[in-house]
Amino acid sequence: MGFVIAIDGPAAAGKGTLSRQIADAYGFHHLDTGLTYRATAKALLDAGLALDDEAVAETMAREVELAGLDRDILSAHAIGEAASKIAVMPKVRRALVEAQRAFSKRQPGTVLDGRDIGTVVCPDAPVKLYVTASADVRAKRRYDEIVGRGGVAEYADIFADVKKRDERDMGRADSPLKPADDAHLLDTSEMSIEAAFQAAKSFIDAALKKN
Ligand code: CDP
Ligand code: CDP
Repeated sequence: MGFVIAIDGPAAAGKGTLSRQIADAYGFHHLDTGLTYRATAKALLDAGLALDDEAVAETMAREVELAGLDRDILSAHAIGEAASKIAVMPKVRRALVEAQRAFSKRQPGTVLDGRDIGTVVCPDAPVKLYVTASADVRAKRRYDEIVGRGGVAEYADIFADVKKRDERDMGRADSPLKPADDAHLLDTSEMSIEAAFQAAKSFIDAALKKN
């Protein structure tokens, strides 16, 4: 079993940015588990299949290849929405969690980010971080990303989307988004990317010393 760093939190909290930095710094493998839900959703959308048939969605989830996941291909807003809808289905979650757990065993270590890594996927991870920020800050970050890419967006729509996604992710019965009891909380609302990385690094280095 490699050394596992579990990173959870709501949309646009900074999980992906932090996970990539940690994986680079420690030479660990990184899995953005949100992409596994997005890839399942995209397969259903591309095939013109309904999003409410759990058995069909489970079949698609079992066919997801971790090696082929690409955020650029899976970034569409409609895919994110569909992903959070199929993410409430226990059979879909079971299929994807199996693949995520297998990934977490890679040597010398792994960083997994998502919503239920510290609570369900890797409950024994030696380092768990719950990365969050206010809904307002997170919506502003998403807005800046879209406008930065030359896109057009209304801040109010993005804020409403962020709130809706939070409610769906925190309110579902199976594996709701919440901090694990032993997670370190990292509120990045007023933290730079570098400051968040340094805070994470101190938790990781302390755990590596004990290991
Ligand atoms: O849009 P954003 O980047 O915040 O989300 P994502 O990480 O790409 O994940 C898309 C959706 O997949 C989330 O809203 C969750 O509903 C679901 N998801 C999950 O249920 N469990 C995970 N470990 C990761 C994502
Ligand atoms: O993976 P997640 O959806 O949690 O967030 P992300 O994609 O890592 O970050 C969303 C945006 O917030 C990115 O554009 C980051 O550059 C930005 N960010 C920030 O401004 N300050 C931080 N401390 C973390 C992220």
